Amino acid sequence: MDEAAPIRDFEKLLRESIGLSMETVGASVIRHALKRRMTACAIPDLHAYWAFVTSSPAERQELVDAVIVPETWFFRDREAFSAMVRHVTGNRSGNRPLKLLSLPCSTGEEPYSIAMALLDAGFPDGSFRIDAIDVSSRNLVHAERATYGKNSFRGTDIAFRDRYFEACDGGFRPHGIIRRQVRFHLGNLLAAKPQAGQDNYDVVFCRNLLIYFDRETQGAALTRLRQMLADDGLLLVGPAEAGLPPLHGFASVRFPRAFAFAKIETSPMKCVEPPVARKPGPVPAKAARAPQRQTASKRPAPRPFAQKPVPQKPQTDSPDRAAASLAAIESAADAGRLTEVNAAVERHLAEFGPSPDAFYWLGLAHDAADAMEDAMRNYRKALYLAPDHQRALAQLRLLQQRRGDHSGAKALADRLDRLAKRSDI
Ligand SMILES: C[S@@+](CC[C@H](N)C(=O)[O-])C[C@H]1O[C@@H](n2cnc3c(N)ncnc32)[C@H](O)[C@@H]1O
Repeated sequence: MDEAAPIRDFEKLLRESIGLSMETVGASVIRHALKRRMTACAIPDLHAYWAFVTSSPAERQELVDAVIVPETWFFRDREAFSAMVRHVTGNRSGNRPLKLLSLPCSTGEEPYSIAMALLDAGFPDGSFRIDAIDVSSRNLVHAERATYGKNSFRGTDIAFRDRYFEACDGGFRPHGIIRRQVRFHLGNLLAAKPQAGQDNYDVVFCRNLLIYFDRETQGAALTRLRQMLADDGLLLVGPAEAGLPPLHGFASVRFPRAFAFAKIETSPMKCVEPPVARKPGPVPAKAARAPQRQTASKRPAPRPFAQKPVPQKPQTDSPDRAAASLAAIESAADAGRLTEVNAAVERHLAEFGPSPDAFYWLGLAHDAADAMEDAMRNYRKALYLAPDHQRALAQLRLLQQRRGDHSGAKALADRLDRLAKRSDI
């Protein structure tokens, strides 16, 4: 039997229904999936199976389930969750619940991780809502059953399991407070209207899906993601996908190793920057990643992710070199080059003296390396020099929260609130 022609038909069917690109996935994946489904249906002939699959939506779903890659785990690429928390902490408006989307959510580890990260950061039960969408019904059954084995807990930092899971038959189950934050829906990113039907998300996680699409489908997917995201929202993609959003109307937010993007050419994001700079160089909590600069009293909210603002009048004795040195530290931190950050901060301090931004970046580098005590010490140094350094405040607050120091975290949250009220939002 000549199988080439029917296999091309299956490839076309899968490309049109879920965007799967054969060049990326490889024909052997399809052949393997076909073999499994044909055995399960007791249909040994490819032509007969084609007739069946094209007349049965249920079997088409089974074929999709057999062909997709469900690989996922809790807190995969952890920095994305820190970036999400930082984004929603600095960008919160009013009392409406935050809206977050995990698409594709696979077997649920990603959306449940979002819930844990937000609760850890002090967002109370009911202050956010997570929609979780996937094209695989089998994955969604697993997600709603919510029983996870050791493959879902990878890496060394799995302390969250003690806090948020209970042991059960077959593994561990997230507590009810985690499960009830997430609503699962069967849906296809490429369908005209996602089944959740609710756009305007504050944060969209679309990680490790675009890699399976061809270029044209990637473009269509990113256009759809743009529509789903609020104008001041944050898009998170997978490490291998970071080159794609900038081709389709997004700009990198450059949270270190988070692969985070914001829409460009939209209204400016809200900024919680204080109106008057009290000390040299505090970097606003949500704002641009520019070298040390003054804040002005009536400055319009910046567009932090689209362009770098023009540096303002320098304040140090060797302003250009100090600013350049801080910019170099910042880009090393953005790129996750932690050893380089440490060395560059040492040099900066020796040459230019103490600086809140230098301590902040050093804190962030320790934070990324999970050295919590060192991170906190450096954030405190930054705050000693610049009490209104909002990014240091926000980071320190997160760490205190994570350590269970709720009153310390609350005091910092109150300081951030007061700063936000003083600012021109
Ligand atoms: C590798 S998992 C990624 C899960 C999670 N986002 C992560 O990064 O760990 C890919 C998921 O994409 C889903 N998927 C594939 N095509 C899709 C589509 N067109 N729309 C929605 N989900 C899709 C698959 O069912 C699978 O669960």
